[in-house]
Amino acid sequence: MKNNVILTGFMGTGKTSLGKVLATKLGRPFVDIDKKIESEQKLSIPKIFEQFGEEHFRQLEKSAVRELCEKRGLVIATGGGTVKDAENLQLLKSSGLVICLTCSPEEILLRTARRGERPVLDDGGNERLETIKRLLAEREEFYARADYHVDTTEWSPLQIIDDICRYLRQFRS
Ligand code: S3P
Repeated sequence: MKNNVILTGFMGTGKTSLGKVLATKLGRPFVDIDKKIESEQKLSIPKIFEQFGEEHFRQLEKSAVRELCEKRGLVIATGGGTVKDAENLQLLKSSGLVICLTCSPEEILLRTARRGERPVLDDGGNERLETIKRLLAEREEFYARADYHVDTTEWSPLQIIDDICRYLRQFRS
């Protein structure tokens, strides 16, 4: 495998936590796009949204994608909205294998309630579950373009990692 392995999918599907485990297992460096932006900007994602707006965040995300796609041999976790930009998706797909983690809206609701602020889910008082379902529907076509999909709703992290490794094995040279 000479190319990047990219984990994408909605918020709460486990891109960051599974990405770290996968990278260790494959002996590759791991880069989380949100964490990269936060450390370069010295601001959390919610603060970037609050102070500069979503459009600014998307520009930062785009330049991070451009930079990372020039590299090889990484495991990359995207943000949940990274692939809704056509150029991002195309760059990621040409730099490696794009694996989309999926999950039921109800489980996403539970997981995102447990962990951290999510600016795109807190959009002015709508029910979170409704917002999750609406965004999932809007993003379906982009997530569908991934090379491989793994449903994380029921599986343990170990099962998910095993499944991804099984998929990746066929590309080993
Ligand atoms: C976003 C998902 C977040 C982060 C930002 C926007 C989205 O990443 O990039 O808050 O639009 O779905 P995670 O999926 O890692 O939470």
